[in-house]
Amino acid sequence: MWGGRFAAQPADAMQAINASIDVDKRLWREDIEGSKAHADMLAARGIITPEDNQAIQAGLDQIAAEIASGVFPFSAALEDIHLNIEARLTERIGEPGKRLHTARSRNDQVATDFKLWVMRASRETGDGLRILQKSLLRQAEAHVDWVMPGFTHLQTAQPITLGHHLLAYVAMMERDRVRLIGAALEAAWECPLGSAALAGTSYPIDRDSTANALGFHAPSANSLDAVGSRDFALAALANLSIAATHLSRLAEELVLWTSPQFGFATLSDGWSTGSSIMPQKRNPDAAELIRAKAARIGADFAALNSIVQKLPLAYAKDLQEDKALTFNAFDAFSLSLTAMTGMIETIRFNRAPMRDAAARGYSTATDLADWLVRELKTPFREAHEITGRIVRRAEQLGVAELAQMPLGELQAVDGRISEAARTLLAVEKSVESRDSYGGTAPQRVREQIERWREMFK
Ligand code: ARG
Repeated sequence: MWGGRFAAQPADAMQAINASIDVDKRLWREDIEGSKAHADMLAARGIITPEDNQAIQAGLDQIAAEIASGVFPFSAALEDIHLNIEARLTERIGEPGKRLHTARSRNDQVATDFKLWVMRASRETGDGLRILQKSLLRQAEAHVDWVMPGFTHLQTAQPITLGHHLLAYVAMMERDRVRLIGAALEAAWECPLGSAALAGTSYPIDRDSTANALGFHAPSANSLDAVGSRDFALAALANLSIAATHLSRLAEELVLWTSPQFGFATLSDGWSTGSSIMPQKRNPDAAELIRAKAARIGADFAALNSIVQKLPLAYAKDLQEDKALTFNAFDAFSLSLTAMTGMIETIRFNRAPMRDAAARGYSTATDLADWLVRELKTPFREAHEITGRIVRRAEQLGVAELAQMPLGELQAVDGRISEAARTLLAVEKSVESRDSYGGTAPQRVREQIERWREMFK
């Protein structure tokens, strides 16, 4: 396609390092869509004849059918998806095929194709997140008042409800979804097509019509920027990487919760794996792999960022590597999302171990201190000190839960503590009392659930 000025063939390894067809064949739909819009515009502007355009349109449709049915003869000698399709077009329709590349370059072509791909992938990923959010919401509803330990520093802090914990992820994923929609909008803003190699073109093209036909807001305002920039992909990868981080944190919790030491939850058989040597094992491999994939998705962002940051304007071939990184990140995320949704749909939570763990570790100490403040007007710092002494006493006596401390022992530390205070130290009472807006009280969690239900309609 570009051999005119060369006397000899490229070296084999030159072809190997240069070819991207194995990766960018995934852009075939976008490439055909872009070419069809371009040819229509060339015809409307009288740059090619209507007959040529008709032949091009029909030829491109046939090529789409060939690719979809798996009979298209992809060739590494033709480097990439753009040249593969164009060469095949000419093979099929002859001379009109050779006119398609008028007033365009592969540089604006690939930037346009890739933007279309990132736009769609970002939107579809956002839709996938919504499905997981709905699973989490169902589980939150089914376990709205189940008590579990809430942690800070992974040390038992205060009792919380499982419903509340699961909804934290729904909230995180809502922001992830919005960020991905943002990435899709950013990609859809400006259409690179018509920027040609770097400087624009001398043909009387109509950039508004191609931008419009392809679903962009406007043609790109600067041709150098349009062919040389990949920040739309960087933004998508950065946002995807944040979303993957959230999936990874949930995965990490599944790994902890399903360990026999926690015993909070059991993964279904379909989402567990066995060990080839230890017959008793039930491993959370999918959750572990989600953690690892999040690391790789972050690395994909870092790699593309490093590629772009040292390129002088405008296009350089380094940019060809943008697609493998981006495809890998979206594929890994989509698989992680499917796996996480499957695990959440079918996981079984174990009420008693969660509740027991919530009561251990003197998790309601704050409730006792708050009672002293509320009922006896004790200054909080003093209440903290008194409660601390009670916790120490409980430890000495080997009493695991504050609610189980005999009243006499509580009163030995502070004679004003009453039976009423003691009953507040049960974990159920503790969670019920945390009814500030956004708090863990089942009442508040039910309101959150309602809010999400409304939003997901
Ligand atoms: N396959 C190339 C890429 O993905 C297309 C653009 C090639 N442009 C060029 N001037 N060689 O970046």
